[in-house]
Amino acid sequence: MFESTPDLSSHRFVRACLRQPVDRTPVWFLRQAGRYMPEYMAVRRHHTLLEICKRPDLAAEVTITAAEKLDVDAAIIFADLLLPLECMGLDFEFQAGEGPVIHKPLRTGADVDALKTTRTSELSYVGEAIQRVAAHFHGRLGMIGFCGAPFTLASYMIEGGGSRNYIETKKLMYRQPDAWRRLLDKLVIVLREFAAQQVAAGADVIQIFDSWAGALSLPDYRDFVLPAARMLVREVQAQGVPVIYFGVDTASLLPAMRETGADVLGLDWRTPLDQAWRGLDYACAVQGNLDPITLFAEPELIRRRVHQILAQAAGRPGHIFNLGHGIVPGTPVENVQAVVEFVREYSPALSPVEARHG
Ligand code: CP3
Repeated sequence: MFESTPDLSSHRFVRACLRQPVDRTPVWFLRQAGRYMPEYMAVRRHHTLLEICKRPDLAAEVTITAAEKLDVDAAIIFADLLLPLECMGLDFEFQAGEGPVIHKPLRTGADVDALKTTRTSELSYVGEAIQRVAAHFHGRLGMIGFCGAPFTLASYMIEGGGSRNYIETKKLMYRQPDAWRRLLDKLVIVLREFAAQQVAAGADVIQIFDSWAGALSLPDYRDFVLPAARMLVREVQAQGVPVIYFGVDTASLLPAMRETGADVLGLDWRTPLDQAWRGLDYACAVQGNLDPITLFAEPELIRRRVHQILAQAAGRPGHIFNLGHGIVPGTPVENVQAVVEFVREYSPALSPVEARHG
């Protein structure tokens, strides 16, 4: 059926996800298409964020432009974490300067029961955009699809937007554990189908964003979040692709996050990469972990930090270079491009043998 498609398992990005040896460390960036990039802003001037997400021609264009301009090894489809909320029956909008606002946040067991799980086909525009990007790159770059993790999406549904202390989310979790479980179960149903659409459209890898998992204590993560996250990871892997599981501020959670069985864990910058990887017994691949704000520094400091991260990875199979979180508005584009050059410059020199002697 896919005779004309090149063997994607040989792409260095996919190989690194599977901890197979690569010719050089693959690199891409969280939020590589975004407001720091003039080409994105040019499209954004004429269209809202949701219009770009919902028009496969525009979503494909901004995805391709960013990946080509940065010369990275993978393209992440332009979309947003919150898109599945709409087809579950929660309307939201992005308000300028304030981030997302969910009009009627979810607070009760009855609200959970009203959520719909049978309208995921309404998200087909994401798959259509992936098809366009995959056809454009034709296997030259890895194609990343993504979705939110159950906890992080639940937190937006319940808080109604971003949050500092996640009080409403944790209240539902602690005080209505049955409703909490039903909510996460419903999210897993929708998200696995959403991921399956993206895989069918040509995604080589799915990244699951549990961006705010770091707000949880380890016992709360284990009791209330890990089971649903593990189920989603397993179900996406059963679709035949590796899974990257990503969170921020997760140093103490990483070994538990590893229990999801994800192929790759995203690392933030607060823990040195070698320390985090050793703590995982090198049992999965890792992605990271430059502080995105380092991109505002002089090139010499950026170069040093890139070199340090690659030296810590020490040429072990299974490192994907990235930031610890997304590129922020105002980041100089040339510094992002410089990181790609530094990764190329340094990574072949760090074969495992040299790293052992050096
Ligand atoms: O290049 C890429 O990384 C793909 C595009 C992408 C977007 N959102 C587009 C976007 C991705 C991967 C996301 C994921 C996403 N969305 C996350 C998880 C990633 C993370 O940061 O941990 C979250 C939490 C969201 C929800 C969301 N979307 C928020 C909180 C905001 C507002 C914050 C902000 O930066 O303003 C958005 C808006 C958003 N999504 C923008 C982009 C490019 C910027 C807004 C715009 O263009 O108007």
